[in-house]
Amino acid sequence: MSKLYIVGIGPGSAEYLTFRAQKVTSSVEVLIGSKRALKLFPEIRAEKIILDSKNMENSFKQAIGEVKRGRSVALLSTGDPGFSGVLKPVLDLSESIEVEVVPGISSIQLCAAKLLIPWDEANLITLHGKGDSSKLLELLDNGKPTMVLPNFNVNETAKYLLNNGVDSHRKVAVCEKLSYTHERIVEMTLSDVLGEDFSYMCVMVIF
Ligand SMILES: C[S@@+](CC[C@H](N)C(=O)[O-])C[C@H]1O[C@@H](n2cnc3c(N)ncnc32)[C@H](O)[C@@H]1O
Repeated sequence: MSKLYIVGIGPGSAEYLTFRAQKVTSSVEVLIGSKRALKLFPEIRAEKIILDSKNMENSFKQAIGEVKRGRSVALLSTGDPGFSGVLKPVLDLSESIEVEVVPGISSIQLCAAKLLIPWDEANLITLHGKGDSSKLLELLDNGKPTMVLPNFNVNETAKYLLNNGVDSHRKVAVCEKLSYTHERIVEMTLSDVLGEDFSYMCVMVIF
């Protein structure tokens, strides 16, 4: 049946793929995702299309086009599609096709689990792909830990906070490459973040 499945693949390791994600991806005719996401499905026979990371909208339109041609398509989204993921940009295209979301484990959820944070009592925010960090400042003083997906760079987020008067001794945690073999979880002060080198794949928590 022609349908667009937006499939959350979790934080990266196959251990965190859900059964539903595996079942749906093995049933579709077309699989679209980043190289990293497609690697999780080596056995699957569907036509595989690599997501155009420089122009994601093109790939979303391509996925929708395939559904309109009558095919079943799974569009892979890291973590959960509904948190800073593929769901919103696809819905923004307002196409009249059938869509089903297959939830995945978000990097935010795995970070909360690793740090023993009940995340119904945390502030959650993404700066990913956004130029404006001011909303982050508004959250910092309500007594809850703030879990942030930085805009590609933890150090820039730390610099922004320091430049805007946040205490340099404020405790933060950075969870890098969660679920991968090179996973790293560090706790430090806000100013110490500047002396470290982190990849883009991080969740930052400000306590
Ligand atoms: C486009 S957002 C997608 C978020 C995703 N929808 C989710 O629920 O985790 C990509 C950002 O998520 C975070 N991220 C994704 N996977 C991660 C991982 N395995 N470890 C740490 N952060 C991760 C990083 O901040 C990365 O830059």
